[in-house]
Amino acid sequence: MKIVVYLGTGGVGKTSVAAATALSRARADARKSLVITIDPAMRLRTALNLQGRSLEQHVPLLPPGKGELWAALLDVRATLDDAVNMYAKKGQVDRILNHPIYAQIADSLVGMQELMAVERIDQLSRRGFEYIVVDTAPSRHAIEFLDKPMAFADLVGSGWVKLVGRTYQFVARTGMMSLGRKSLDLYARVESLLGANLVQQILDFYSIFVSIAEGYAHRAEKTVALLKDPAITEFRVVTTPQKALRDARFFFSALKERGFPLGTIYVNRMWPHDASGDGSSKGASALESDVLAWYASVRQSHIRAIEQLRKEYNGQPVNIVSLAELERDVDGLGALERIAAQLGG
Ligand SMILES: Nc1ncnc2c1ncn2[C@@H]1O[C@H](COP(=O)(O)OP(=O)(O)OP(=O)(O)O)[C@@H](O)[C@H]1O
Ligand SMILES: [Mg+2]
Repeated sequence: MKIVVYLGTGGVGKTSVAAATALSRARADARKSLVITIDPAMRLRTALNLQGRSLEQHVPLLPPGKGELWAALLDVRATLDDAVNMYAKKGQVDRILNHPIYAQIADSLVGMQELMAVERIDQLSRRGFEYIVVDTAPSRHAIEFLDKPMAFADLVGSGWVKLVGRTYQFVARTGMMSLGRKSLDLYARVESLLGANLVQQILDFYSIFVSIAEGYAHRAEKTVALLKDPAITEFRVVTTPQKALRDARFFFSALKERGFPLGTIYVNRMWPHDASGDGSSKGASALESDVLAWYASVRQSHIRAIEQLRKEYNGQPVNIVSLAELERDVDGLGALERIAAQLGG
């Protein structure tokens, strides 16, 4: 199995480049390639068959590739439902799915998207996808995609959470309050804030959900280990010429801190045409010449940005690849093919 994770700040082309990457693998390799995307623009969503709350979708290619292209939306609710169906104890699936707290957790828990991305990678590998390209939410502050699942795993592993999860049903059944002082204080405080009924519901829910949460924590640890294995996972950053150096520095060091190597930096939306040659401006009006000169100077600044980046990472095992600005938005398979053709090895 191979996993490629795209990181980057907002609007730089992560989703487009991630989808193009899965497409290029599906063309070249007799494998099932899948891109898992977050919130793609409408026309790309249509091109990838991603309507509604479905799981993985097959994307037919013309002409067909050696392998298959699949796409999926990272839908928090669908992923969590899937985890409940796969891992809940027999007889508890419906109780969990219909519990009043469940929908609230799925829809509102902060960081749920990052938690579920890791869960979903595990589900996909179990379903036979061999090349998984992960598009992530824009982030600059931290690599939340990696940090949150580990934080959650730590929380679930903590003694107090385990205690509540394991003992609540027993306590509720027997009416005995056998929990420690610390837990009682916390109950009292939370009850006065939320009302006894809601607290009871939350604890009741957690007590049946605890096995899923523990299973999640275990799988998250395993998946994060896969992500840390350079034979399996490659991290790539997408940026634009204007942000290239800043983004590269940030992600390079944020990844390094966590023990993940950075494989490739894609500098997207490079202006591709060489408008500086005197031939192209011959016979042009003054206005046209001005526009050409302006284009050429912006393009020069893009080229300088790439050169700076190459200098900065000279001698490091990081690929730096530029991707051209297309004439239109990335709105379908044709545009993805054009990006795919530029991705390199
Ligand atoms: N090489 C390109 N040429 C032209 N347009 C592009 C190119 N790459 C991306 N775009 C356009 O830029 C916009 C943002 O692209 P995309 O959605 O892939 O970025 P993103 O990083 O995933 O954004 P977000 O952070 O919002 O998820 C889209 O309208 C897309 O069509
Ligand atoms: Mg995106």
